[in-house]
Amino acid sequence: MVDSVKEKNSSGSYSSNTGPIVEYKNVHKSFGDVEVLKGLDLDIYPGEKVALIGPSGSGKTTIIRMLMTLEQPTSGEIIVDGKNLCHMEKNGKLVPANEKHLREVRGEIGMVFQHFNLFPHMTILQNCMTAPIQVQKEDKESAKRRSIEMLEKVGLGDKLDNYPSQLSGGQKQRVAMARALVMRPKIMLFDEVTSALDPELVGEVLEVIRDIAEEGEMAMVLVTHEMDFALEVADRVIFLDDGVIAEEGTPSEVLEESDNERLQQFLYRFRS
Ligand SMILES: Nc1ncnc2c1ncn2[C@@H]1O[C@H](COP(=O)(O)OP(=O)(O)OP(=O)(O)O)[C@@H](O)[C@H]1O
Ligand SMILES: [Mg+2]
Repeated sequence: MVDSVKEKNSSGSYSSNTGPIVEYKNVHKSFGDVEVLKGLDLDIYPGEKVALIGPSGSGKTTIIRMLMTLEQPTSGEIIVDGKNLCHMEKNGKLVPANEKHLREVRGEIGMVFQHFNLFPHMTILQNCMTAPIQVQKEDKESAKRRSIEMLEKVGLGDKLDNYPSQLSGGQKQRVAMARALVMRPKIMLFDEVTSALDPELVGEVLEVIRDIAEEGEMAMVLVTHEMDFALEVADRVIFLDDGVIAEEGTPSEVLEESDNERLQQFLYRFRS
């Protein structure tokens, strides 16, 4: 069973020896004159839970938007499951990826946004069923069955025919998660998914993320300001500052033991 042997990778976390599911290689990203990412090198392993923290404007959203192909790196490469995200091979040469290539690579990735982005004119069941049918060409019955399963899993089995406007923020965010999960992604991206919620609704959403994390199979990237949650769920915490990874390690190494001054200043705000 060589394939299932676990070994420690260079980042210090444990993963199967199949190699990273996501690789950022010397990625730079500028908006106009402002260089937001200054040579990001980051490997994420199958099943790994990575928390991304850092000051506002440090590029956390940009990192995950690039993975969703919503932004292009200015230079450098992003590899997803061994495939180049922005380029494809044609006649032995790398050329810009076409829509088909992008769709294939993006198909491995699910994302949950801060502001839900549900389709307001569809019921929550329809919200979940649409992409498997339209994008993955799954038959309607199977997409419906799996969507119901996912909505039950996030605790909304009794709301299938409700419209998003009839739900609380926490419920909407759980629909958004079910909708992403139904696509069976290998990587899930969460960008501050609790920060638009009333405080009393945060817990129910974190609970669902915790459950998904415990299942273990999916790699997860969590941009979060919930430090206690990061400490509990993440295998690795990455502190982004001034365009680079300024500190990384296990949650306790980064959140409790590091003496990086910028990180201390950043964390201080959460302690006071
Ligand atoms: N489309 C864009 N056009 C111009 N500038 C942008 C664009 N997207 C992001 N930026 C800039 O890039 C920098 C990083 O933005 P990003 O949204 O990635 O930060 P962040 O770490 O997610 O911040 P926050 O914690 O506030 O969400 C910011 O200075 C932002 O203003
Ligand atoms: Mg952001």
